[in-house]
Amino acid sequence: MTERIVLDCDPGHDDALAMILAAGDPRVELLAVTTCAGNQTLPKVTRNALAVCAVAGIEVPVAAGAVGPLVRPQMVAPEIHGESGLDGPVLPEATLELDPRHAVDVIIDVVMAAEPGTVTLVPTGPLTNIALAMRKEPAIVERVKRVVLMGGSYTRGNKTPTAEFNIAADPEAASAVFSAPWPVTMVGLDLTHQATADADVVARIEAIGSPLSSFVVDVLEFFGSTYREQQGFTDGPPVHDLCCVAWLCDPEVFTTQEAFVAVELTGTWTNGMTVTDFAGLFGRPNNTDVAITLDKPRLWDMTVDAIASLSARTEGAVR
Ligand code: BDR
Ligand code: CA
Repeated sequence: MTERIVLDCDPGHDDALAMILAAGDPRVELLAVTTCAGNQTLPKVTRNALAVCAVAGIEVPVAAGAVGPLVRPQMVAPEIHGESGLDGPVLPEATLELDPRHAVDVIIDVVMAAEPGTVTLVPTGPLTNIALAMRKEPAIVERVKRVVLMGGSYTRGNKTPTAEFNIAADPEAASAVFSAPWPVTMVGLDLTHQATADADVVARIEAIGSPLSSFVVDVLEFFGSTYREQQGFTDGPPVHDLCCVAWLCDPEVFTTQEAFVAVELTGTWTNGMTVTDFAGLFGRPNNTDVAITLDKPRLWDMTVDAIASLSARTEGAVR
């Protein structure tokens, strides 16, 4: 059975890879792409989403959403993703028109039009759009199959010692998403730091020899350079967001463990921390499947296959 998904993202190098896998793997059906301010401002990440659609031949509704977080001042990440939010590759002109609806309405429309329990939400940026959609149409909570989000960590953060960027950027929205009674999978840094795009992966992608594969190589090279400089990743950048889509293609790609997860909103030093209680110490029911261990070869095999398959589909792409 194919997993039908809405990808809510802030492209973003790893968001771009998530889009490409979602479009190129037959086990997932990409229903819509929605954007949220995060790695860069909303106009920039939306432009980037449309550029990825152009290069990968993706033809689904793309809608722009929240311009900033629910409560806190905006945070962007030029030190990782550059001034455009997707520095490195030449970005093609958009071939799709932006959907005139707000992202929140696209999320609601897709979920409410589908059979209950058949649509999975995949947020790979701050959770602002998802929280706003829940508030605008609470009925989505019981109709969504699952939320598979990239964010958080049960060990260390990357924005602060305890907070990961997507959660730190809009902790109130994240708290609403974790607290709602829908199944949540947290694909946090503990998992995604295992998903590095090493030199052999880049070489395999380059060998496909298409405009799309060259684009992906440029994406990974820029992302690799900032991760090397900023966070000391010498073996390639961790392609966080890709892991969410990969798990929906094949649940064997990582293991999970149940826990109660709460987002810290009032800590002196710990705002945005995903406090993860595996041992039931708070006496609260588990609300999250937490990603633990990655099968890295499986992740990159399916990603290389998806790039090759999209390359074959796009006009004159394979040389
Ligand atoms: C997350 O933050 C962003 O920089 C990435 O796109 C990813 O979603 C990693 O902390
Ligand atoms: Ca992202």
